[in-house]
Amino acid sequence: MAKTIFSGIQPSGTLHIGNYLGAIKQWVDLQRDNQAYFCIVDLHAITVPYDNEHLSDHVLNAAATYLAASIDPDHATIFVQSHVPAHTELAWLLSCVTPLGELKRMTQFKEKSERQKGEVTLGLFAYPVLQAADILLYQTDIVPVGEDQVQHIELARDIARRFHNRFEKEEEESILTIPKPQINKNTARIMSLSNPTKKMSKSDEPKSHIALTDEPSIIKKKIMSAVTETEPVFSFTHSGPAVRNLLTIYQGFSEEEPAAIEDKFTGCGYQEFKEALAKLLIEKLTPIQKKYKDKRQPEDLKIILAEGKAKAEQVANQTLIQVKQKMGLL
Ligand code: TYM
Repeated sequence: MAKTIFSGIQPSGTLHIGNYLGAIKQWVDLQRDNQAYFCIVDLHAITVPYDNEHLSDHVLNAAATYLAASIDPDHATIFVQSHVPAHTELAWLLSCVTPLGELKRMTQFKEKSERQKGEVTLGLFAYPVLQAADILLYQTDIVPVGEDQVQHIELARDIARRFHNRFEKEEEESILTIPKPQINKNTARIMSLSNPTKKMSKSDEPKSHIALTDEPSIIKKKIMSAVTETEPVFSFTHSGPAVRNLLTIYQGFSEEEPAAIEDKFTGCGYQEFKEALAKLLIEKLTPIQKKYKDKRQPEDLKIILAEGKAKAEQVANQTLIQVKQKMGLL
């Protein structure tokens, strides 16, 4: 049976291969037989210091990337979070059933607030409630994400249950569907190329990640300088974390069986393996980059986003009205 899928990415710079392997690649498969919403979560991107002069460009970049990666507006609703005001409104309502203690436990909040030089904002703290609102507005069954988002989806489940317990009859079907996270087991957590104990992230130094828009010469340079272990062992179970990560990237893009990849590289040196990996990445990313250039037309993108807003808003506003009624607002 068709399910409702919701996911989103922050437009906070260029997207990288971690975003692609952890999230977008799953979206492409899920969009076909399901009702899918793919959001550009600009309101989440402003919870940390950001460049306001370029935010709207980043939103268009993200939209063009979705299209380039084969998200199809005929199958999926692509829209910008801030264009549908129901998201912020529901976030406020849900914040009134979210215990402070739950938010203090969020590991991403802890990590991001430690990294922050200036003041930590209320927006950063409340971030997971807005994410819960994103998901719960659409009766979402499945949220395809990377591993780092699972805790946030669990909070959204918890908030939906609290809402039900507080405002609905026990036997009554809730207006808020309990969502499930879906992770791609093999590629749920792609690590940094320069420090394999850290998740690949766009906020780290450029050589730590490969942007989807990196030129072939840059891809090659970054892969050749990726850290490895002392002994060249190519095994998904026995290699050290740096090489396991490179093998996982190889597997994510080639879609070959792990055993076949291990066989292919056993006996090779790192140089040979890295050259093969760089070649594969260039081969897979070049078509996406070509399509990106084609799709990065502001006026065309704005039309797609306006259509997405209209479709999303219809569903979101219905949910919001029902939530307000249940909560007793006049
Ligand atoms: P964001 O923008 O940090 O990341 C977007 C998606 O990419 C995945 N991801 C990764 N997957 C594997 N390895 C990595 N190194 C890696 N880095 C990022 C993330 O898990 C995510 O799926 N809070 C969310 C955005 C959001 C959202 C939502 C997601 C807002 N509302 C509702 C789902 C549903 C975030 O910051 O993603």
